[in-house]
Amino acid sequence: MRVAIFASGNGSNFEVLAQAFQAKKIAGNLVLLFCDHPDAYVIERAKKYKIKTVSFTVKECGGKGLYEKKIAQLLEQENIDFIALAGYMRVIGPLILSKYEGKIVNIHPAYLPEYPGLHSIERALADGKQKTGVTIHYIDSGVDSGPIIAQEHVAILADDTLETLEQRVHACEHRMYPRVLAQILEKR
Ligand code: GRF
Repeated sequence: MRVAIFASGNGSNFEVLAQAFQAKKIAGNLVLLFCDHPDAYVIERAKKYKIKTVSFTVKECGGKGLYEKKIAQLLEQENIDFIALAGYMRVIGPLILSKYEGKIVNIHPAYLPEYPGLHSIERALADGKQKTGVTIHYIDSGVDSGPIIAQEHVAILADDTLETLEQRVHACEHRMYPRVLAQILEKR
């Protein structure tokens, strides 16, 4: 099983997954990082784990259609079987979806279907909720709307700030993603 991770930013989830692949806690090989932001910190993390990285922007490709085509070519060249999104800030287009149906997973920092889209942690806190969570789900053509694989709640404490809540949500993600991805890939 040849696995690619798509990410756009910091890459803390990328790093815990890279560690788990290298420690053989997840079956398969993490062989590619694709990043749509050439200066994202996740690229530095990939160097540390010696994971091949390819990065280009929609703008460089001349639009979304050509961008997606170039990604599809890359996935074919690299014989990618499965994709894990880890802070990838774009919607997966129809070309890639048709080739990888049921083979793309995402992690989202909320208890879906609550708070899909951007700023989910901030919105849960602002709404005065007592809990939020983390969801791992398959990708479909919508935004954070595909079939749910695993979810955990994270309590929102009375004295939480955005920073403290973010820390606990991310800690929950970092525990969950390697474990759940290992379960998914072990069955394939
Ligand atoms: C995570 O909260 C993830 O759930 C969301 O984007 C964030 C990425 O964080 N999709 P990082 O880049 O893995 O640190």
